[in-house]
Amino acid sequence: MTDITIESVLQENRTFAPPTALAQAAHVSSMAQYEELYEKAKADPAGFWAELAEQELDWFKPWDKVLDWQPPFAKWFEGGKLNITYNCLDRHLTTWRKNKAAFIWEGEPGDSVTLTYAQLHRQVCKMANVLKDMGVSKGDRVGIYMPMIPEAAIAMLACARIGAAHSVVFGGFSAEALRDRLVDAKAKAVITADGGFRKDKVVHLKDAVDQALADNAVPSVQKVLVVQRTKSEVTMAAGRDIWWHEVEPDAAADCPAEPMDSEDLLFILYTSGSTGKPKGVVHTTAGYNLYTHMTLKWAFDLKDTDVYWCTADVGWITGHSYIVYGPLSNGATAVMYEGVPRPSNPGCFWDVVEKYGVTIFYTAPTAIRAFIKMGNDLPNARDLSSLRILGTVGEPINPEAWIWYHKVIGKERCPIVDTWWQTETGGFMLTPLPGATPTKPGSATKPFPGILADVVDMNGKPAGDDEGGYLVIKHPWPSMLRTVYGDEDRFRKTYWEQIEPKDGQYFYFAGDGARRDKDGYFWIMGRVDDVINVSGHRLGTMEIESALVSHPAVAESAVVGRPDDLKGEDIVAFVTLEGGATASEDLKAELKQHVVNEIGAIARPGEIRFAEALPKTRSGKIMRRLLRNLASGAEIAGDTSTLEDRTVLDKLRQGDPESA
Ligand code: WT7
Repeated sequence: MTDITIESVLQENRTFAPPTALAQAAHVSSMAQYEELYEKAKADPAGFWAELAEQELDWFKPWDKVLDWQPPFAKWFEGGKLNITYNCLDRHLTTWRKNKAAFIWEGEPGDSVTLTYAQLHRQVCKMANVLKDMGVSKGDRVGIYMPMIPEAAIAMLACARIGAAHSVVFGGFSAEALRDRLVDAKAKAVITADGGFRKDKVVHLKDAVDQALADNAVPSVQKVLVVQRTKSEVTMAAGRDIWWHEVEPDAAADCPAEPMDSEDLLFILYTSGSTGKPKGVVHTTAGYNLYTHMTLKWAFDLKDTDVYWCTADVGWITGHSYIVYGPLSNGATAVMYEGVPRPSNPGCFWDVVEKYGVTIFYTAPTAIRAFIKMGNDLPNARDLSSLRILGTVGEPINPEAWIWYHKVIGKERCPIVDTWWQTETGGFMLTPLPGATPTKPGSATKPFPGILADVVDMNGKPAGDDEGGYLVIKHPWPSMLRTVYGDEDRFRKTYWEQIEPKDGQYFYFAGDGARRDKDGYFWIMGRVDDVINVSGHRLGTMEIESALVSHPAVAESAVVGRPDDLKGEDIVAFVTLEGGATASEDLKAELKQHVVNEIGAIARPGEIRFAEALPKTRSGKIMRRLLRNLASGAEIAGDTSTLEDRTVLDKLRQGDPESA
């Protein structure tokens, strides 16, 4: 395969300038300042990061060498000693932040807890001491399988405190998924809870842990620490299981932070590939601390007066970097919420914004599209005037969803920070800086200073303006994944050998299709695995989906290719409708024509299928792979364990009477 061009078909011309007052007070307050930072970092990446590392982090011992790049292996700040929990906790205790709220936590049933930095420090030290008593020591791995309660963050920090690496497994994953991950990480202990509240039900986490460990399936695990949350009945295995509330009172509240090498393993986080078993993405200490700290500070213009809320779960990288480490390292106040919007409480997000006066709100396009479908009355009934910055992550945001977010939530006052990044990148890679970057709906705008992003073809040749290609990063950055846990070969093949290195230039391959416009703005076109080839034109899924969503009747859409004798592939669009709209043959014809009007005849869907819901992963991404199987009439193949709701697939398979 040599010609990889992905054709770009959708044009979006609206731009939004940063609000003047916000810009004036921002950490980075103009495009000129951004460009200066960008050029400085580009000219001397190591020098750029070293200066920030000295300014922004506390070190037990300075580093000897900023960057050691032996492609594809990067080491940052070698020789340096630090502990990320010292930067997240201890250093704030000698300032006025000692009694500042670190976490404001809101439980699904409406209970709440506020933890100041001093209180959080105390709890982390206690759990760290308990872990030591359980036999966990520096270098061990600990599995964390928790609901969204403060103890989830405390568990992560307690591990990091003593130099044990955590491997958080999202609480929505099954016992089997948990087992596979614990086995791969050779975890010595597991931290869990009796259960968690999710969508008005109790999720029995401890039972799943028991199931995962049954029959000595994970021989490395010796102890299980159990936090009481739901008070549901659980079985405690004698000699293995320990209740946190029983040992917490007597645990010493002081546990010095273990001095860690910069490159010591901080955590493993598993991410599912489209094929094969999940990859254990490896992140290390210093570079990750620095990069999450800086990106949050600049991209969300984080100030001491902010009440910052990221709606992700700590089980995802977003939760790791931007609920726990990034906010705490900056001494911020972060809201943590156990609930998710659900039929019994569809307005819960706006209640939380109003209740705590949230100033920075960060969520995902899938949530935004769900809110659009629920109508404007819910947000309009709440006071959202505290908000000053909005963020989005996880998928390309359709321009129409962007505009709704801007108008209905941000009241045309709040810049939208569209952050493109990955589990592997550790932190934001493409993002506006809200006081500097004019935004364009649907674009993650420009690279963060120090990130040499490009769009290239299969041979590494840069694409022209508005020409589609592969999104790559051409220089290592501090929070880049170091390897795939236990599988160096997979690390090389997946990320560094898709595009062959040339003349010492290595390309980090992100797996996303993208284009860059004449202003240097990046537009993500979707995963390259999802690209559709119609009569020799390679089309990204994103643009056709956005065209469909721009029709008033459409809530969400997913397009996939289906083998076609004539065209190579034909476009099949799965569509969910807005509350008021009715499915009909006329509407199908209208939607096909709408895509033709928006994009052109080349993108005309061969078939429209109405659906009640689309199959999504537990983190909200549409699983186009499954839809591809359905569209071509094939059996569903490959791993479906990350699917959020199996019934969605069954309904799609049966096909509703409205489907063609
Ligand atoms: C993939 C990474 C990083 C946190 C959550 C997801 C897609 C992510 C954006 C965005 C367009 C995006 C990409 C990327 N993605 N953010 N702002 N615009 N696409 O982490 O599960 O590792 O997924 O999510 O396809 O490669 P992840």
